Formats: sequence, structure tokens, C-alpha cells
Amino acid sequence: MRETIITRDSKVCADAIKDGGIVAFATETVYGLGADCFNEKAVREVFAAKGRPADNPLIVHVSSIEQAKTVVKEWTEEAEALAQAFWPGPLSLVMEKADGVLKIVTGGKDTVAVRMPGKYITQQFLKECGCPVAAPSANRSTRPSPTKAEHVLCDMDGKIPYILDGGSCEKGIESTVLDLSTKTLLRPGTVTVEELEEIVGPVAVFGQQGSPKSPGIKYPHYRPNYKVVLIKGNNVEKMTKELYNLASAKGEKCVILDAGNVMLKKDENIISFGSSDELCAAQLYDTLIGYEGKIDTMLVAGTSMQGIGLALMNRLEKAAAENIVIS
Ligand code: TXA
Ligand code: MG
Repeated sequence: MRETIITRDSKVCADAIKDGGIVAFATETVYGLGADCFNEKAVREVFAAKGRPADNPLIVHVSSIEQAKTVVKEWTEEAEALAQAFWPGPLSLVMEKADGVLKIVTGGKDTVAVRMPGKYITQQFLKECGCPVAAPSANRSTRPSPTKAEHVLCDMDGKIPYILDGGSCEKGIESTVLDLSTKTLLRPGTVTVEELEEIVGPVAVFGQQGSPKSPGIKYPHYRPNYKVVLIKGNNVEKMTKELYNLASAKGEKCVILDAGNVMLKKDENIISFGSSDELCAAQLYDTLIGYEGKIDTMLVAGTSMQGIGLALMNRLEKAAAENIVIS
């Protein structure tokens, strides 16, 4: 394929979708890689471009609540209340799918994840597409998710005709995924458990017990090309400093991402967003990608599991994989 064009022209991108093509587009969370949800060939191309396993379903992006109703079996009162509270925004609802929704989109499941994204340019694009758009994050599988058009270009150059450039993704991490039938949080995000509970009552947090319900949960995620070590526990500052000194003594190039805002002494090797989990989440993938080729190790001082901290730690645990140190 010819080289990929970064554009702000939503109509050109929507026309490509209508022609059966696949296009990357900005959202307020991360960039998505979209196809007409009813075009099986185009959806297959999304899986191929990402190198995504076929049992990991895609999120269906809609331009309105009316359109959401066309992809689910039953639009419930709770769905309506959540949509009124959080859409357009970073919340995906998993509900029983309508008969017409392709199994390839849902990874063979009878449920579908649906969300109405928040950026103005994205809404414009979805309206112009005129169809629901199935889209995973626009990274190759296992890579950190893209939060800028140039991140998408690194992973997808030559594989797709267009990237709809909406600037940086202000939330910076993927949407909260809520299974509405069981009121289980399948993936934490910037819409917090506390906020969801205000609307629908108690929400179970996936991962405490049981097997994965969200197929994506079992696959590697968010891995940059250097080692990420996550430090949790009661002595995070001390342990992080010790590990930093050890790595430096071995000649490793190392930086500290101070997610928990615990490092007392700041210097140029410490990346800090103050005490705001929200700002840290907004910059997380850009920071992970930005250090590729520059360091051997990123030590991450962990944050609390409250509010957006739950989502931030979820992404950091996956980025670190087996390199989690309890202090
Ligand atoms: O913010 C976002 O959600 C971004 C933007 C582009 O909208 N999309 C995104 O998509 O993060 P993706 O494919 O990278 O992650 C979708 C997650 C996966 O963990 C997948 O397993 C889960 O949602 N999911 C999708 N449909 C599901 C279903 N029917 N049942 C359970 N989990 C589902
Ligand atoms: Mg993803």
C-alpha cells in the first residue's frame, strides 16, 4: 500500500470507511483503528493490521444513543442512565449483541462492547461514516496504545491509507469497560468504579476472582522495547532508589517514573506528574513510547489503587509483566 497520510479531514477518512477501508482515528482515550462494523472483510483487515488474536473482540463506536440501540439486543434503563451520565466519553458498555452484529467483531461472543467517544472531530467522523465503527486501539498487539498520530504512524505506516489527526488524546488510557449484565468492571479506566456506582449501585471489580471475562485481559499489553519494573508496597521510595543505584552501577541507562509521587528528591532522571493520577494517565503511553531507544530500564514507583489510580496501576502492571517488586 502507498504511504499513510495524516489528515484532519474527517470526510476523507469517513469516505475510506464507507469504501470498505480501514482508518485510524483520534478519540479522547487513545487512537482507534476502525472499520465499518458490518463489513466483515474490513473488520478482518483490522485484526490482520494489528496482529490481533481472533478471540479478542473489538469495541463498536457510535455517534449517538440511537445508533447504540441498533447494535444491542435490548437497550436497558441502566444503559440509558450510564450513557446519559458518561457519553460521549470513555466508558464502554458490554451488552447482549443484536443479531446483525458480526461474530468476528465480538470475538465469537454473544455480547458487544459499545461506546460513544468524546472528541468533536471523532463525532464528526462517526456521523459522516453513517455506520457504527468497530475499532481496537491502533497499535500493533502487545505495544503501548497510541495517543498521538505519530505513534500510530510508527506502528501502521503503509498498512492503512489515513490517520484522522485529532491531536493528543486527553485521557491517555483506554476506556473503562463495564459488563452491564453482571455489573462487573472488565477494564478500569478514567470513568472510575466510584462514579459508576453512583449510577448503578455496587460494581464488582474483575480480577479478584474467576477467569477472564474480557478476552483481552489474558494477552501481553503496553510493552515498550525496554524493561519496565513496577515497585509497589510500603517502602516504594527506598526500594526504587536502591534499584536505581543497582541498575546505574551495572551501567544501565535508567529513569524513574514517579507515578505515586513518592520520590522526595527530584532530578532530571525522575519523571513526575505531581500527585495527579489523571495527569500521569494522560501522559503514560507517550512517556513509555518516548523513551524507546533511549533507556534500558524504567523504574515505576507505583500509585494507590483508588479512583484513576486503579486504571493507571492496571496498565503499569501489564507493562511490567513479571517485573513487579513488592517493597
Ligand atoms: O478507549 C478505548 O476503549 C479504545 C478506543 C479506540 O475506543 N479502544 C480500545 O480497544 O482500547 P481495544 O480493542 O484495545 O480494547 C478493547 C477491550 C479488550 O480488552 C476486549 O477484550 C474488551 O474491550 N471487549 C470488547 N468486547 C468485549 C465483549 N463483548 N466482552 C468482553 N470484553 C470485551
Ligand atoms: Mg488495545
